Amino acid sequence: MTSAVATPTGATAPAVAALAYHDGEFVPLEQARVPVTTQALQYGTGVFEGIRAYAQADGGLAVFRGRDHYLRFLRSARTLRIDVGLDAEQLSEVTAELLRRIGASEDTYVRPLAYKRSLLPGTPPGVQLQGVSDALSINAFRMGSYTDRAGIRVAISSWRRPESGVLPVRAKVTGGYVNNALAVDEARAAGYDDAILLNSRGQVAEASTSNVFAVVRGRLVTPPLSADLLEGITRDTAVTLAADLLDVGTDFTDLGRDDLCNADEVFLTGTGAEIVPVTEIGGRPVGEGTPGPLTTALMTAYHKVVRGDDQRYRHWLQPVRPAAARPSATGGTT
Ligand SMILES: Cc1ncc(COP(=O)(O)O)c(C=O)c1O
Repeated sequence: MTSAVATPTGATAPAVAALAYHDGEFVPLEQARVPVTTQALQYGTGVFEGIRAYAQADGGLAVFRGRDHYLRFLRSARTLRIDVGLDAEQLSEVTAELLRRIGASEDTYVRPLAYKRSLLPGTPPGVQLQGVSDALSINAFRMGSYTDRAGIRVAISSWRRPESGVLPVRAKVTGGYVNNALAVDEARAAGYDDAILLNSRGQVAEASTSNVFAVVRGRLVTPPLSADLLEGITRDTAVTLAADLLDVGTDFTDLGRDDLCNADEVFLTGTGAEIVPVTEIGGRPVGEGTPGPLTTALMTAYHKVVRGDDQRYRHWLQPVRPAAARPSATGGTT
């Protein structure tokens, strides 16, 4: 599929929709490949992010909280001694350029991946982080909302979320997602949409790729970071919007599975899932078994914010401007 988009110099050129930023240049997606000897493929030593760009109410496209995602990406990378080679601003600029080059105008998902590649000369084979080269790829594809706004059914997984002394749970490490994949697989095999994982203490940690909130007596309750969860950016967005727009506070306290079953409402937050009501947990309805009023109000607020409909949160949106309108391009990346 091709379309005409502006190049960095302002001229128009045919654009290939499937492109990736790979090893420092923009290449057709099918050329963004790695050899079977890639260390990250063998040992799970990669880190990634999931970022959304939303079509805006005024017609443009904007990346939602891209800088926050890239700051987390860089923290994750540091954990695995991966030198990404770009800072958060440069990563954001490369992302905007990728979106321009693929001609993205509708809701798009961006997937940055930094990983351990190959042994440097003199490094013996083996599981290790030092003496191994690093690499960066970013790809993007069209993706609208995929969760059911009428609510999803979740299981409590028999798989536990690893504790922070076992895996760096605050980093989005590729290898750690084996745990999430097993939990989703088990839930789907039993007919559920997703899984909530408990931590090693038997308290709620998070869902497979999202954070968990309960509504209890008119307040939000979500597990604290000590519950071994990933500190979600959508979690922060939900807490902020609930306080600012709905005058609803959040308690960061441990939740047991019975707390979830007795909650008035339960919802999940994540870049991919956005804000999604949970209407059933392990075969029991949550509240009335339909999306609750607070969840619904928060979903409405969230969707206005990500579409640029609410001016108060424009600072969370990084517009992807047409090439001619940009002040300057980042050296070496365009
Ligand atoms: C394990 C896990 N928890 C929570 C989240 C939610 O994080 P965010 O809201 O930053 O997307 C994600 C998604 O990135 C995730 O993979």
